[in-house]
Amino acid sequence: MFSKVLEYTGEYKKTTYKAILTLVVAVVFYVGPFLFLSQIIAPLLGYGEISAAGLIWRVSAIAICQVLYAVLYVKGLELSHDSAYHTLKNLRISLQHKLEKQPLGTIEEKGVGAIKKIFTDDIENIELLLAHALPEGIANLAIPLFVFIGMFFVDIKLALLSLAALPFGILFMAVMLKAGLGSMSAYYGAAQKMNNTIVEYINGMEVVKVFNRDGESYHRFEADVKNYRDFTLKWYKVCWPWMALYNSILPCTTMLTLPLGSYFVLQGYSSLPDFILILCMSFGTGVPLLRSLSFMSTLPQIKYKIEALEKTMGDTALKQSSKNFIGKSHDIKFENVRFSYKEEEVLHGVSLEVKEGNLTALVGESGSGKSTLAKLLVHFYDISGGSIKIGGQDLTKMSIEALNNQISYVAQEQFLFNISLLENIRLGKLDATDEEVLTAAKKAQCGEFLERLEKGIYTMAGDGGKQLSGGERQRISLARAILKNAPIVVLDEATAFMDPENEEKMNEAIAEVISGKTVIVIAHRLHSIINADQICVLKNGNIVETGTHAELLRNESEYQKLWNAAQDSANWKVTTAKEGL
Ligand SMILES: Nc1ncnc2c1ncn2[C@@H]1O[C@H](COP(=O)(O)OP(=O)(O)OP(=O)(O)O)[C@@H](O)[C@H]1O
Ligand SMILES: [Mg+2]
Repeated sequence: MFSKVLEYTGEYKKTTYKAILTLVVAVVFYVGPFLFLSQIIAPLLGYGEISAAGLIWRVSAIAICQVLYAVLYVKGLELSHDSAYHTLKNLRISLQHKLEKQPLGTIEEKGVGAIKKIFTDDIENIELLLAHALPEGIANLAIPLFVFIGMFFVDIKLALLSLAALPFGILFMAVMLKAGLGSMSAYYGAAQKMNNTIVEYINGMEVVKVFNRDGESYHRFEADVKNYRDFTLKWYKVCWPWMALYNSILPCTTMLTLPLGSYFVLQGYSSLPDFILILCMSFGTGVPLLRSLSFMSTLPQIKYKIEALEKTMGDTALKQSSKNFIGKSHDIKFENVRFSYKEEEVLHGVSLEVKEGNLTALVGESGSGKSTLAKLLVHFYDISGGSIKIGGQDLTKMSIEALNNQISYVAQEQFLFNISLLENIRLGKLDATDEEVLTAAKKAQCGEFLERLEKGIYTMAGDGGKQLSGGERQRISLARAILKNAPIVVLDEATAFMDPENEEKMNEAIAEVISGKTVIVIAHRLHSIINADQICVLKNGNIVETGTHAELLRNESEYQKLWNAAQDSANWKVTTAKEGL
């Protein structure tokens, strides 16, 4: 467990060792005064002599040791925290790198709350290991052990007596650890579930407010919070009695030494100076020993969290290589592609060819698999069968960066980071100048709404982009795609939020994005794609028809049904509007 974490300390590994060493020396200065104390007490009781100078230097030594102990302990902790927080940073960054390479499905399955918990709470727990349990634990254990060994050279009987409490303490601690470990996974599971529910509850606040104030989602929230409380209390109830026992027994290193030792001295089995020395040293070792063993009780928790972290890091990554894009063209070829998010297959052997420079439209009922097909092209998920190639190169044979450079993808649900709109657009091309960003924003028809905002393009997007309307978010995403200027463009319902007036402007913007590109457009509004080079109709995860608008309208096709339905709804809108007059 330690070795894995130590790997992540990186260049701070040495700092951890320095921290341990500093703390070891500090504890020596803690225990040292008890030796001087015994040298003062023995002469006072008439064993040996002590001069005034001898007394003064010992008292001074005790004071100096105390100061050095305090200074070195603080220094040791400073070093250990330095190393710990750098390690936490390394762990968080490497977790982020690992997650980036994993399929979206793996991440969705865990839940946002659980992942946030791993990133923040679980990794934070490693601070306890690196900054405290490891360096303080070792230092506070090593020195008492040395002292006990020394005691054996002074008087074996008394040394054994001073150790007598230890086995009881360790036994109670072992029982606690075993009992605690039993309910650990339930406790941890409850914490993860509560985190997920809280995140879901906050994200769904709009729905909760309107529909479900006292409803199911609140009850689930309440149940998970209560559940977590119950599991935590159960865990503590199992551990508390044992914790109390070892906490009270372990520091009592003098429990048997004092009565039995006195008896040995009275009987002449041991000498009084040895007895005083061992008694003093027993006092000196009690506190460090308890401190070191108290860290032991935290180890199972830390171990559990490190394992959860490792499991997340070890989840299967997407199949990809580190190669650049070496495709001969930007032809896209889906061949017999099968895919399931979970158990149920949603694409059942889809084959589709998109020629370079052409515009292909994907249409079909809601849930037929259009967005899924687009997400597979940008390699959010691995497919379970078939292949997807660009210019003859399989997606799995290139790096995600290489693929990203080839595709501008505007998703159905737009997400903006809570940074300025300018920076949100700049994500499309990180080295773009402000002027380039502004030009792209204008081309994407953002100009008019940016003017209305007090800070214009420098306005913050709000959490997830919530400060903007759906249509405004779409235009910002489109500006990002214009700026990126990649050879392949995938637009998923890019005009879904548009009113007719803006739709025209939006179509101009889209024309700007797609000119001269290889394009896949997903659209519900069929009239916007009648000029497409090919239209593919999806139904229940299959492509059922392919052709141009004219070709597909000819026979009794699925496309015709969709087209008629679209016409009907347009007429219906007009009629209701007229009736309303
Ligand atoms: N993240 C997901 N996890 C599990 N199932 C999903 C997920 N996303 C989509 N699905 C399922 O996959 C199927 C295809 O969904 P997809 O989003 O591709 O449909 P669509 O054709 O884009 O629909 P729409 O027109 O409504 O956007 C649906 O049955 C949907 O329930
Ligand atoms: Mg969709």
